[in-house]
Amino acid sequence: MLKVMTVFGTRPEGIKMAPVVMKLKSEKNIQPIVVLTAQHRQMLDQVMSLFDLQSDYDLNIMKDRQTLSDITVRVLTGLEKVMEESKPDVVLVQGDTTTAFAGALSAFYHKIPVGHIEAGLRTDDMYNPFPEEMNRRIVSSLASLHFAPTREAKENLLKFGVEESKIYLTGNTVVDALQYILSKDNAVYPKDFVDFHDDKKKILFVETHRRENLGEPMRKICRALKRIVDKYKDIEIVFSVHRNPAVREVVFPELSNVERVLLMDPVDYPVMIGLMKKSFFVLTDSGGLQEEAPSIGKPVVVLRENTERPEGLRAGTAVLAGTDENKIFELSSQLLEDNKVYEKMSKAINPYGDGKASERIVDILLNFKGVETRQIEEFAG
Ligand code: UD1
Repeated sequence: MLKVMTVFGTRPEGIKMAPVVMKLKSEKNIQPIVVLTAQHRQMLDQVMSLFDLQSDYDLNIMKDRQTLSDITVRVLTGLEKVMEESKPDVVLVQGDTTTAFAGALSAFYHKIPVGHIEAGLRTDDMYNPFPEEMNRRIVSSLASLHFAPTREAKENLLKFGVEESKIYLTGNTVVDALQYILSKDNAVYPKDFVDFHDDKKKILFVETHRRENLGEPMRKICRALKRIVDKYKDIEIVFSVHRNPAVREVVFPELSNVERVLLMDPVDYPVMIGLMKKSFFVLTDSGGLQEEAPSIGKPVVVLRENTERPEGLRAGTAVLAGTDENKIFELSSQLLEDNKVYEKMSKAINPYGDGKASERIVDILLNFKGVETRQIEEFAG
């Protein structure tokens, strides 16, 4: 039996790890061990119940206004016993959170090989996104298996000095998760949305939470949104407000009483996908949404100065607005007014995955440990 431990803690990691865990569970030669750090509590629990997953260990580390040091120390200390007790053959981490970084470091301290899902994303700016860019570089140094979502990510890893034989082009597991949710189509919309929404109006869906956007940049984003609803009377803004108090203390005062703006608590994943499907386009600083929106034909206005996901910009599924009030307003106006620009963006093909990433990852793990020999076809990219 191959013991495969997955360590995750935030909502996006949960969404992207869920299809991998489901696949691991379906294999007769694999014993999955699911470890939650619960860097996020409520938002992660939503994901666990949605995909019907149970944890074997739950470190339950979340504190109000936790610092990066809090998270790192609590994950490392918590994992110590878990690693010793369960002795996995391989540990999987996902993405660039502090959970992923500390999870990989803990596995390294126990000399257990690390598989990094969504490896090789880079902005080449150490402080942007902060601390994610450094987290992912450190995980690249610690990992033995690098699951690159795109060709560009693979190139980044080669430049970083990773041996080619350790890099696997898999596509992003977010597309697997999205396809699973779309196949179920079981979104139940919250009452505040149902009461708010007017069928004749276009929805702009907004989500923003990044540390480097907290404070003034987020205020500028809110001001741009105010100008947009003020000018275009046929639109509504549906804003999913992250539970981070530092996000809430900017967004609520700016947008609480603005006409045709709905501020919602983070909704569960099927509702979020449903809201994106209903929307005209999406404004966000989230990485996951940049990967998901093109699968359902929605353009993305990226509220960040740079992105580690340039594939979307090149494929034409996203435009980079940063946090400049005028630029956000102008790019949004263009999408609202210029039908040709809109059509082109909404019809571009998703460059991030084909829905088979989890299957590839599990096959690679079985090969890696010599448990089975499976044929693997790379993601075409
Ligand atoms: C974290 C990740 C980020 C990822 C994001 C997705 C790090 C450093 N950051 O950022 O890479 O894009 O998750 O959301 O790893 N909170 C709750 N309940 C929840 C979730 C969060 O109350 O279910 C509050 C807590 O007060 C917490 C705060 O949100 O202190 C911030 O959470 P934290 O994990 O520190 O950072 P995020 O901004 O969520």
